[in-house]
Amino acid sequence: MGRAKRVVLAYSGGVDTSVCIPYLKKEWGVEEVIAFAADLGQGDELEPIRKKAIAAGAVESIVGNLIDPFIREFAFPAIRANALYEGRYPLSTALARPLIAKRMVELARECNADAVAHGCTGKGNDQVRFDVAIAALAPELKVLTPAREWGMSREETISYGERFGIPAPVSKKSPYSIDLNLLGRSIEAGALEDPMVAPPEEVFAITSSIDKAPNDAEEIEITFQDGNPTAINGQVLDPVELIMKANELAGKHGFGRIDIIENRVVGIKSREIYETPGLLLLIKAHQELESLTLAADVLRTKRKLEMQWADLVYQGLWFGPLKEAIDSFIDRTQLNVNGVVKLSLCKGNATIIGRGSLDNSLYDPSMATYGKDDQFDHMSAAGFIYIWGLPVRIWAALKRN
Ligand code: ARG
Repeated sequence: MGRAKRVVLAYSGGVDTSVCIPYLKKEWGVEEVIAFAADLGQGDELEPIRKKAIAAGAVESIVGNLIDPFIREFAFPAIRANALYEGRYPLSTALARPLIAKRMVELARECNADAVAHGCTGKGNDQVRFDVAIAALAPELKVLTPAREWGMSREETISYGERFGIPAPVSKKSPYSIDLNLLGRSIEAGALEDPMVAPPEEVFAITSSIDKAPNDAEEIEITFQDGNPTAINGQVLDPVELIMKANELAGKHGFGRIDIIENRVVGIKSREIYETPGLLLLIKAHQELESLTLAADVLRTKRKLEMQWADLVYQGLWFGPLKEAIDSFIDRTQLNVNGVVKLSLCKGNATIIGRGSLDNSLYDPSMATYGKDDQFDHMSAAGFIYIWGLPVRIWAALKRN
């Protein structure tokens, strides 16, 4: 039937995406599958993954290092937006999807492919993010989604793969479904599907437990320029190094674990465990610097737009018009977000203990002080309050009658 001739497939090395290769060829008549694996700092060895795709029947297997754009163009905007989906999840997985989609579209054009494919199932958010991003960037490209359509159980998928020389997952595979990149890890399934079951320590890999975290607090300082983190403890770091350093510091002290019930785009509530130490630390510090450097009304408006920004990114609308418009607002506000935030890390906590800005602090000591240098005009308060409270007094007087 030939749904497409040449297809670029988003490839992770797992069973599902591996099975996609023979499946696309045998069942859907695709002639050539080009596998693309993205390096997002997940720390996997990518050369074996590259070879695995060839063994599964890919005509070409490409590994792309996307770490730098991932942090610069996706993580840093999220920090500037203080993006926390439903107030808690810093979008570590969601942020990677539009970047992978963008690269796949470029590859499809470079390789003259007539379709792209991914191995997402029909229950998750990632399918939404890939499909919408690809539709936005390349409406002419078909998106093939075998895993959404094949209706095979996990066991059936594995034995289908075995027929084409795709090895079953080695040893007693972890019961968890894990997604990871330089921003963090998400862990689902297995015993975690019972929302009352506490996450066993074995699910965590980049944050230490409260028990094992050092007893002594560690003070750190994070510097921001135009809303982007640029230095830790006075040491200037490029974006990737900076995230790595933030991960290491926060992870060591057990900060950045999240255990939530989350609302997926497709209507399902799911129990999610995350560890996103560095990203969460940087967002917390960034929020604090904004409280010092942004005017109250700007801050309040931004807080509302931030929720919307996080919703848009979670829901796969990265390349949409509202996201673009909110970004302009955020970018303008960030010109004032320059300074330093001091935190104390200890036993799962990152406590803000100081903040300062040379050029953009709106904190005016002569207004704030209770000491003798107070410049605030106390007498003006009376007239202000007379007018401020006037509607209430009129309303209350009427009620008394
Ligand atoms: N719930 C998170 C999100 O939607 C994590 C998803 C992890 N994805 C995965 N394929 N395991 O962003």
